[in-house]
Amino acid sequence: MARNFVEIFEVGPRDGLQNEPRAISAAEKIALVDKLSEAGFRHIEVTSFVSPKAVPQMADGAEVLQGIIKADGVAYTALTPNMKGYEAAVAAGVDEIAIFASASEGFSQKNINCSIAESFERFAPILKAARHADIPVRGYVSCVTDCPYDGPVAPEAVAKVAADLFAAGCYEISLGDTLGKGTPDTVARMLLAVLKEVPAHRLAGHFHNTDGHAIANIDAALALGLRVFDTAIGGLGGCPFAPGAEGNVATEAVQEHVTALGYETGLCSETLEEAAAMARQMRQG
Ligand code: HMG
Ligand code: MG
Repeated sequence: MARNFVEIFEVGPRDGLQNEPRAISAAEKIALVDKLSEAGFRHIEVTSFVSPKAVPQMADGAEVLQGIIKADGVAYTALTPNMKGYEAAVAAGVDEIAIFASASEGFSQKNINCSIAESFERFAPILKAARHADIPVRGYVSCVTDCPYDGPVAPEAVAKVAADLFAAGCYEISLGDTLGKGTPDTVARMLLAVLKEVPAHRLAGHFHNTDGHAIANIDAALALGLRVFDTAIGGLGGCPFAPGAEGNVATEAVQEHVTALGYETGLCSETLEEAAAMARQMRQG
């Protein structure tokens, strides 16, 4: 990988569309993923395999994953909270999966209905099965600066969960500012703690943009050596279990920003604009 390469990891079809109030058809989701596949991403997070009662917007995950036209060089990923989700994702042809933990107990309970420790018990068989099947596993840590239920989160708590996910075999740990309340200062303090446990090239920044700090937070993370950032096309979404949270920082905005800083992303800006227009259309219905 070139030294000045930044990977933009597209999560809009999952993190964006999981929170859109309008019912969006599988066909519309497939069309969006197919457009994104033309843009040059290495990873596209397509969907999640979670309880349809908890997140009805992702109930069609298998249909979407099976309906897309897979492009060479793109890994199509999905969230899997437990073995039921993992098995469904594999049956639908997923290339890579993600497990998701929280740095705060309050969000862990509300999001996945168990404690942080219990979530790792659920992840253990997934990690074992994925290792046997040669399926890469990414790990998320939510609430890396602030939790909607517990308030500010200690950097050491984030470092512990990140270290545990890394030790368990996740190839990359994505650090989620779920609420979008992080600032360059709180993000940098959190990262300095995490970097004692996990090297920068194994970390990703996942910034929601509620307070408009996401780009500044990316700059703080770039300064500390991170080179992978999760984004959502058109700035879609939020999190159903983090009231008030806005969508991820928009893919096209990050592309413009990091390109202006002199980084290469391998992405086609024109195709991103076309995909962003589709995303905006989906929002408006
Ligand atoms: P639970 O109630 O503890 O699980 O939920 P359970 O095993 O007792 O099962 C309860 C029901 O769910 C059963 O159905 C299961 O079959 C079903 P019932 O008998 O009641 O009809 N079920 C499933 N169905 C489909 N797929 C599955 C599955 N598992 C159980 N995989 C569970 C635990 C995790 C399942 C639930 O709490 C859940 O689905 N939560 C949704 C979590 C979620 O998707 N959150 C949003 C994504 S995370 C996020 O956005 C943050 C992130 O972006 C980073 C950041 O920004 O910080 C990643
Ligand atoms: Mg998120």
